[in-house]
Amino acid sequence: MSFFAYKGGEMHAEGVALAVIAAQVGTPFYCYSAGALRAGWQEFADAIKGMKASVAYAMKANSNLAVIRLFGEMGAGADIVSVGEMKRALAAGIPAQRIIYSGVGKKPSELMAALEAGVGQINVESSAELETLNAVAGQLGLKADITIRVNPDVDAKTHAKITTGRKENKFGIDIDLAREAFALAGRLPNLNVVGVAMHIGSQLTSLTPYRDAIVRVRELIGQLREDGHSIERFDIGGGLGIVYADEKPPSIAEFMAVVARETEGLGCELSFEPGRRLVGEAGVLVGEVILVKPGSAKTFVIVDAAMNDLIRPTLYEAWHDILPVRQPRPDAATIRCDIVGPICESGDFLAQNRDLPPLVAGDLVMVRSAGAYGAVMASSYNSRPLAPEVMVDGTRFAVTRPRPTVEDMISAERLPPWMEPKKA
Ligand code: LLP
Repeated sequence: MSFFAYKGGEMHAEGVALAVIAAQVGTPFYCYSAGALRAGWQEFADAIKGMKASVAYAMKANSNLAVIRLFGEMGAGADIVSVGEMKRALAAGIPAQRIIYSGVGKKPSELMAALEAGVGQINVESSAELETLNAVAGQLGLKADITIRVNPDVDAKTHAKITTGRKENKFGIDIDLAREAFALAGRLPNLNVVGVAMHIGSQLTSLTPYRDAIVRVRELIGQLREDGHSIERFDIGGGLGIVYADEKPPSIAEFMAVVARETEGLGCELSFEPGRRLVGEAGVLVGEVILVKPGSAKTFVIVDAAMNDLIRPTLYEAWHDILPVRQPRPDAATIRCDIVGPICESGDFLAQNRDLPPLVAGDLVMVRSAGAYGAVMASSYNSRPLAPEVMVDGTRFAVTRPRPTVEDMISAERLPPWMEPKKA
């Protein structure tokens, strides 16, 4: 079921016309469908039924409080990468025990805050971090439950900037050096090693890299047990892909079938850290056409949503479908155009060389599959306020993060005292 669809000639999010939201909230704005979020969560929940497994939502994909809360109410934990995310997860009502703290460079102060809050699991990514965490836990007089993230050196066959499981990547501990790291962890008195973690990349549309990585980690778990470690948990990470153009990502059931088969008999409790798969297709970005500029090479459709709102096309050459919010007639002619923002950079585009029905100033456009790594990666470059976020649930909608005013943005800054205007 599609939660974004034309009804009566107008694009709707569930039961609400996007044009109605635009009239009330202004453009650009992000819009999330609660129904789509729930359906995404349910797919995971159904697939892990009967397995000893839990799901921690990788909130880096979309850390809107309402989104986290919705998942939390359905039983999700949170995969976090900073104390900022930890505070957000707690504010959204996720119990600390259900939080997994990942990340390649955690500061001692962050580790301290995480231990004080009682996060359930810390995924350690280097020997240096083992030592630091041991010291911090010692200061607090407690023992930290950890897994060690290993880098299984498999090619996730995804975009170079979002692959993480190769030896060349900074993430995890090289699988060939993992036994030494576990030995070190075993010697450190304030650490309690509970398992192994991996995460091989993002936007994966094939199950083969998962299978290859799990086979390698399974072998490692055997060796670690021989070395005397008790390995109770296996954190498989996230990374499942979604549809942006014509990808055919596996279903969660297919994914879990592979995981269940490859981990059979291992006796580990499994955890998963999906981000994009839970939120990507559940969100869109809506912008308004400012003007249309015909050129001899192509036509530029300049909209009020830009690279500061959605950086993925600029950063990863990512494809996002663009649809007019008012449904075009089936026989409407199309023109070749670039959909670009008003920012002073040639890289400021949402889409290039698309065939779209002619658009005019004031038309609304919807950028599809923008729920993951959209609003969270936005900036206020060119002093453009962050786009607001809206959640639709059936026929209701609410602004879950309002648009700041430029005055808000300016008043958050300070002049150095010597630049303050002189008092008369
Ligand atoms: N766990 C760990 C340790 C991660 O590093 C990530 C994502 C996830 C889970 C969630 O991965 P997901 O299920 O969302 O693929 N900004 C990029 C994606 C960066 C992903 C970073 N790590 C993009 O827009 O494509």
